[in-house]
Parts: sequence; C-alpha cells; structure tokens
Amino acid sequence: MSILKVAKVGNPILRRGAEEVARNQVGAAPVQKLIDDMIETMKEYDGVGLAAVQVHESRQIAVLEVNENPRYPRKPRVPLSVLINPKITPLGEEMEEDWEGCLSVPDLRGRVPRYRNIEVEAWNRRGEPVHFMATDFHARVIQHEWDHLHGKVFLDRMRDLSTLTFLQEFVRYWADK
Ligand code: NI
Repeated sequence: MSILKVAKVGNPILRRGAEEVARNQVGAAPVQKLIDDMIETMKEYDGVGLAAVQVHESRQIAVLEVNENPRYPRKPRVPLSVLINPKITPLGEEMEEDWEGCLSVPDLRGRVPRYRNIEVEAWNRRGEPVHFMATDFHARVIQHEWDHLHGKVFLDRMRDLSTLTFLQEFVRYWADK
C-alpha cells in the first residue's frame, strides 16, 4: 500500500467532478489498490473521509472512518466504509451547522450547514449494493465526500466566509464551542 499525494484546492481535479465506476471494474486490481491506498492515506493524515479526486483519481469512490481522531476529537465513531457511486437523499429539511475541515484545504476550518439525516445508496468495495440512513456527523462526512465527487469543497457550502478560521485560531478561540 502507498500513501498518496493529496490535491489541494486550486488543483482543477477538485473542481471537475468524478466519473462513475462501472460495476465490472469494482473488483479490478487498480480499483482495489486505489481503495487500499485511499484508506492508508486517510489514516496517515488523520482524515475522517477521503474522496478519490483528492488523490488525483477521477472516480466516484469515497472512504470514511471516524475513530479517536486528533483532528476531530469527541465525535461519534463511524466504521470504516467504502462508498462507490454514492447517491444521497436528504430525509427532511432539517439542517445543522458545524465545523468542517478538509485535507485539500489545509489548516482551515469553517462552519458548514448540512442535512442532519440522509439516505445513502452506494456499492461497497465488493460491488454489493449498500443502503442505509446516516445522521449528524456521519451524515456530514458523507455529504462532504459526496461534494468532492461532484466538484465542490466545503468552502462552497458555507453561508458566508465569516467563520473561516485557521487551525491555530480554531484551537485558541473556537474548539470548545
Ligand atoms: Ni474534504
């Protein structure tokens, strides 16, 4: 496995939107290796999610996992999951604003409104359909990764830029809020 280089905002690949993965390609060695490398890269940089476009691959694949994470302490756990060609549907109109960061937008945080409850349909890494509901932080991470697969970053979803905060200032002024 390899730790991959992460594309930073400004890199056009983050704005293009990713190609769907064909069902018969999911099991192919290059896709499986990409998934393994994405998981390793996410863990290396303490991410809670990573989309393939962030490692310069235009494919609709996202990985996520929330454990004890120094970048996101005190968040509920989300088991390691791989979502291929995910579709999300908001369940209700309720939105919640909370802080987000992104490995492609280093050292910045901002408050982003997201749907609290969503329905997710995707394939797992074996190409099997998965269908589940996600709530709160889990739903937030999936919406953030879905955005990457469609050419958006969290900055686009902020109501305005007034909460944009460098990590050092986040820790100093906002981490407990
Ligand atoms: Ni991100």
